[in-house]
Amino acid sequence: MLDLDRMPTHVAIIMDGNGRWAKQHGVPRLAGHNAGMEAMKEIVRRASDLGIRYLTVYAFSTENWKRSQEEVSGIFKLLVKFVKLDLDELDEKNVKVMTLGDYSVIPSAARKSLEKTLAQTANNTGLQFNIAINYGGRDEITRAVNRIAEEIRTGSLEGEIDEETISRYLYTGDECGNVPDPDLIIRTSGEERLSNFLLWQCAYSEFVFTDKLWPDFTPEVFEEMIQIYQNRDRRYGGRK
Ligand code: FPP
Repeated sequence: MLDLDRMPTHVAIIMDGNGRWAKQHGVPRLAGHNAGMEAMKEIVRRASDLGIRYLTVYAFSTENWKRSQEEVSGIFKLLVKFVKLDLDELDEKNVKVMTLGDYSVIPSAARKSLEKTLAQTANNTGLQFNIAINYGGRDEITRAVNRIAEEIRTGSLEGEIDEETISRYLYTGDECGNVPDPDLIIRTSGEERLSNFLLWQCAYSEFVFTDKLWPDFTPEVFEEMIQIYQNRDRRYGGRK
């Protein structure tokens, strides 16, 4: 049984396997992403209903630009569709949408949809739903180091650079309301690697993997993953 008193504060998900799901079903890759979008919506709903504070999904990495132009533009069209169909429901559920990554370079229709979403949900106080778009962990750390260097150069930042300073300059830092590090990172589709996701923030995260392909990931499977997390013994480098 899920222990509602010991829910993770922040769950992050690497939504993998849309392409393989499409292949299995004999449909185009984009149909796989569309099914993935539907799965994502269900998980946002359930996360909100469970009272989880932060949910972060890896929607598009800095490496995903290597895919065909058709696939890339199709993924961003899905984002527009998601906003059109689901923004009001998210808003009613008091979900606050934020982004990680430099989304200024995505197609303009998608950028506008995203900006509308961020603006409409900015004052919501429920689940914070972070969508990582054009996000890469190394890129994020490099950008933070450059921003810190620039502020030291101009004199707006002084003193020792500690871990807390670095955290504040990451995408998850000041710009995103200083999101706590993920307690639980889930990856679907049987792959067991981080793929440049939340490299700094995952220092003490619990990882739970499932063979399910992302479009087959249901709220019930989500709850099972949280139960696995709840049975883990988190020691943060200490001993019991
Ligand atoms: C990984 O599956 C999935 C992606 C790279 C895209 C994820 C996108 C969605 C779930 C749709 C939602 C999109 C937005 C922008 C909110 P894969 O294509 O790598 O699968 P494969 O490894 O089986 O080929």
